[in-house]
Amino acid sequence: IDVILDRHSRLNTSDLQARLKTLDLPGGIFNTEQVTEFVDQMQVYEGAMYEISTKLEILDDEFQVRFSHDPIHHMERRLKSVNSIIGKLERKGLPLSVNSIKDNLFDVAGIRVICNYRDDVYSVSNYLSSQSDIQVLRVKDYIKNPKQNGYRSLHVIYAVPVFLSSGAHYTPVEVQFRTIAMDYWASLEHALRYKTDLPDAKLNEHSQTLLDCARSLQNIEVQMQNIHRDINGAPQVGEA
Ligand code: GTP
Ligand code: MG
Repeated sequence: IDVILDRHSRLNTSDLQARLKTLDLPGGIFNTEQVTEFVDQMQVYEGAMYEISTKLEILDDEFQVRFSHDPIHHMERRLKSVNSIIGKLERKGLPLSVNSIKDNLFDVAGIRVICNYRDDVYSVSNYLSSQSDIQVLRVKDYIKNPKQNGYRSLHVIYAVPVFLSSGAHYTPVEVQFRTIAMDYWASLEHALRYKTDLPDAKLNEHSQTLLDCARSLQNIEVQMQNIHRDINGAPQVGEA
């Protein structure tokens, strides 16, 4: 892979304090001590995110050397913003504290791995999942079982040890594995989802069209995967 897109901005303590002041928090949670604890925890999430993306780069390099094939087209990684973290805790009616983040949010550190073919999605994720120093906490396979709206991707939550002076801290990282076609589709669907000013009839029409597009893209992917397998001497797959 030549590109890793970093989608997160560096955490800034004064921004954070300004944002927290706008919230009317009962009992004065998020005092200076809590802010420091929060910034420390975000650094742990960042470390976990780098560890996983380094593992993925190493796998991609190995494939390139051994098979002259890049399974990973590119990666994107991001830390959830303070606003999104607070918004999600509020939405779920969870307490606003660092412990609550650690106990309830598994997507503070996130990596999106965009692969060339569907076979690559499964080989890269299987090799990563079998590494002995990390744990698989949860798998959601929306490729085998697409969502109603047509969304497809493989989501895996890993726990990875981040070593601090106090020892190993197992930290969750959400990895979304998908193909270029799945990513292309998900970007447009995401844009539509936040387009709330469209009339309902239009939204429904677009959602239906997107569902058709998801099916078409899936067929195209199977055909292209087969050509790719044929070129590389691997067995063919049937329609998914
Ligand atoms: P939440 O994180 O609270 O949504 O629950 P979850 O972690 O159980 O959700 P899930 O694993 O199903 O999805 C997590 C992420 O996948 C979302 O934050 C999105 O980035 C992506 N995602 C899931 N469903 C869709 C979808 O229908 N469309 C698009 N564009 N992205 C989706
Ligand atoms: Mg999530």
